[in-house]
Amino acid sequence: MNIKVSLPLLITIHFLIYNIFGINGLDNGLGRTPPMGWNSWNRFNCTIDENLIKQTADALVDYGLRDVGYKYLNIDDCWAGERDEQGYIHASNITFPGGIKALADYAHSKGLLFGLYSDAGYRTCAGRIGSLGFEDVDAITYASWEIDYLKYDNCYNASIPEQGRYEIMRDMLNATGRPIFFSICEWGASQPYLWANEVGNSWRTTDDIKLGWDSVMDILHQQRKITHYAGPGGWNDPDMLQVGNGNLTLDEQKSHFSLWAALKAPLLLGFDIRYPSNDTLEIVNNTEIIAINQDPLGKSVNLAQSTKTMDIWTGELSDGYVALLLNKAGSSITIDLNFTAHLNVLGELSIRDLWEHEDKGVYNDSYSRDVPTHGIVVLKLTGGTKIEEFAEFIDQYNDAALSEFVIKYGVFVLLLIVFVLQYCVRYCCE
Ligand SMILES: *[C@@H]1O[C@H](CO)[C@@H](O)[C@H](O)[C@H]1NC(C)=O
Ligand SMILES: *[C@@H]1O[C@H](CO)[C@@H](O)[C@H](O)[C@H]1NC(C)=O
Ligand SMILES: *[C@@H]1O[C@H](CO)[C@@H](O)[C@H](O)[C@H]1NC(C)=O
Ligand SMILES: *[C@@H]1O[C@H](CO)[C@@H](O)[C@H](O)[C@H]1NC(C)=O
Ligand SMILES: *[C@@H]1O[C@H](CO)[C@@H](O)[C@H](O)[C@H]1NC(C)=O
Ligand SMILES: *[C@@H]1O[C@H](CO)[C@@H](O)[C@H](O)[C@H]1NC(C)=O
Ligand SMILES: *[C@@H]1O[C@H](CO)[C@@H](O)[C@H](O)[C@H]1NC(C)=O
Repeated sequence: MNIKVSLPLLITIHFLIYNIFGINGLDNGLGRTPPMGWNSWNRFNCTIDENLIKQTADALVDYGLRDVGYKYLNIDDCWAGERDEQGYIHASNITFPGGIKALADYAHSKGLLFGLYSDAGYRTCAGRIGSLGFEDVDAITYASWEIDYLKYDNCYNASIPEQGRYEIMRDMLNATGRPIFFSICEWGASQPYLWANEVGNSWRTTDDIKLGWDSVMDILHQQRKITHYAGPGGWNDPDMLQVGNGNLTLDEQKSHFSLWAALKAPLLLGFDIRYPSNDTLEIVNNTEIIAINQDPLGKSVNLAQSTKTMDIWTGELSDGYVALLLNKAGSSITIDLNFTAHLNVLGELSIRDLWEHEDKGVYNDSYSRDVPTHGIVVLKLTGGTKIEEFAEFIDQYNDAALSEFVIKYGVFVLLLIVFVLQYCVRYCCE
């Protein structure tokens, strides 16, 4: 069969069988809390080799980062070499002469998990070989290498819809019998939060993060209406962390890290772990912030209030509440947290500051803090009584699915109503 004809056909049939008839789903039991680890891209881009990956494995262990949760050692783009005559993919024999299996073994021997990258297209974004049309052999190869995580990109996609294309790799991974965390990276192109929960353990919600405050704020802004789609087994992915890579102030890095943690994003470090600064370690090793990310309830914070100068994000934890007071302004400001308006809670709350690592006492109704430029205050609150009706209001406000439906089909529904009314009026007046 001509591949150009057969691929769309196969994808369509696959889509019909698995989606319309609902036969399959993601069933790997992984990602009950967001994944934590390291990925090579943000710092190293294409300049990676097996020595760097091994040294990074050592560093994750030596600096205690593995033990606070950073278990995944993930290689991004640029590891792949060529396919052989049987179609099996091999690592670049220049940069990864020992092969991927040896690296995965090394990671496992260090008590880490190992992740790899490919693309649901003919090529990867850096132009290496992609997996489209080779999902079966690639999944078998990855499982034989004993990988634990696959990031699956979207370049060279031949304009074939995402929905359908990503399910093929999911099913091929499922078929190997090895639990492999499936990280969908289609940049939020086709509203993955609406369908990817059945396909992957996480889905990117935006384009790539850049190394700057503007990018962090832009991505944050794009999360505000999709927060409720995150949950155990399937997470919104606002892309990997830029902490420790420069061009962000210390306060900006704390804000970036705190917000990603509270949004229940994957916490994938992106700096050179081999040479960490004390500041960087203090941020990514903050176990109280990590505990927010890894809370078993698995609920993201929601945007409770937003003005030009500040954001207040709040959410529920298994044992209380979390509130983030973010200063977006160019100077220090005071931010007031109102327990009823922002948290939907009545009564007294005990407050702990998760960056100062200090209990702040018990408060009624509200709590105020000065927050430095681009800085954040992260509070854990316990006690009080939840106001249920208010929570429902937040959910409605957050219902991106409904608003998307209205945008897509609203005009048709309106036209139909107008048409029916016209018809009725004519018929009735005759
Ligand atoms: C990270 O935090 C853990 C737990 O608090 C601590 O044992 C470890 O020493 C810290 N590592 C570094 C490098 O600060
Ligand atoms: C390395 O890979 C290239 C391209 O895939 C291939 O042409 C070459 O023969 C390989 N060299 C060795 C020593 O395997
Ligand atoms: C990363 O590498 C690609 C080529 O693989 C290049 O086009 C791109 O500009 C690089 N990006 C950064 C941020 O260095
Ligand atoms: C395919 O990739 C392009 C960018 O190369 C992107 O704009 C598009 O959304 C992707 N998906 C489809 C179905 O075309
Ligand atoms: C640093 O951040 C600023 C502000 O977000 C941005 O405009 C600039 O491009 C960034 N520089 C680099 C090297 O990424
Ligand atoms: C908190 O919000 C409630 C409800 O919006 C309002 O009635 C109350 O005055 C606010 N309290 C403070 C201290 O601003
Ligand atoms: C909170 O308000 C209640 C009822 O007015 C009062 O009994 C309690 O002492 C107050 N707590 C604090 C910490 O001010």
